[in-house]
Amino acid sequence: MPNISQAQSSSFDSKPLKVAVLVSGSGSNLQVLIDAMQAGSLPIEIVGVISNVKDAYAVTRAQQANIKTAVFSHITEGDKAGKRMGIKTFERHATAQLNEWQPDLIVLAGFMRVLSGDFIHSAPAPMINLHPSLLPKYKGLDTHQRVLESGDLYHGCSVHLVTAELDAGQVLTQAMLGVNKQQTAEVLQSRVQQLEHQILPWTILLIAQGVLNLEQINSDAKPSPYLPALPLKLWLDN
Ligand code: GRF
Repeated sequence: MPNISQAQSSSFDSKPLKVAVLVSGSGSNLQVLIDAMQAGSLPIEIVGVISNVKDAYAVTRAQQANIKTAVFSHITEGDKAGKRMGIKTFERHATAQLNEWQPDLIVLAGFMRVLSGDFIHSAPAPMINLHPSLLPKYKGLDTHQRVLESGDLYHGCSVHLVTAELDAGQVLTQAMLGVNKQQTAEVLQSRVQQLEHQILPWTILLIAQGVLNLEQINSDAKPSPYLPALPLKLWLDN
């Protein structure tokens, strides 16, 4: 009979989950996924990274790890007026790229454009997003400042399924911390980011291992009464 570590390593021997990541910024969350993948701690293969921002440091991180990248910048080359690439054009390019890579899962990690329902529904894989608040509170932007202004005692981040309605899909996991009212929004943001770097790989591990079954969660099927109700919450105060 295999011991526990043998059983665990053999469960990682199965095919890795093919993950595509959409980014717009620094890519610290992408880096955590790259590091965990390279360390063998996360059974994933990052098949490609799509950015809508040309100079996003996330693209450099992906290139340094020899991961395929595609940049569909929202600034048209040579356009002095800085005209934005329409979202439909971005989505057309991104769909073609995703269809080529054929991921099992699409992860929005700091991706800052709102995607259309058509794009989400026609994507070749389910899509999850990392959001810096305890959804359903504080959808949208400036979440840390809004938490401080509201005097909330708790804050954190959520990983949720992406649906046509902004930040409104089923929340899968949340990581929480206690708010210190003396701290600035910047400090709070940095504390929440430390939680993001733990909750995102943890959530993807649960998906890769089949603990979180996104198709079943997305369907009308009744959740198992023997498993905890979603979202799964981690108290990760720091
Ligand atoms: C994260 O804080 C995420 O919550 C927000 O954008 C940030 C992305 O950070 N949506 P990074 O690009 O992963 O460093």
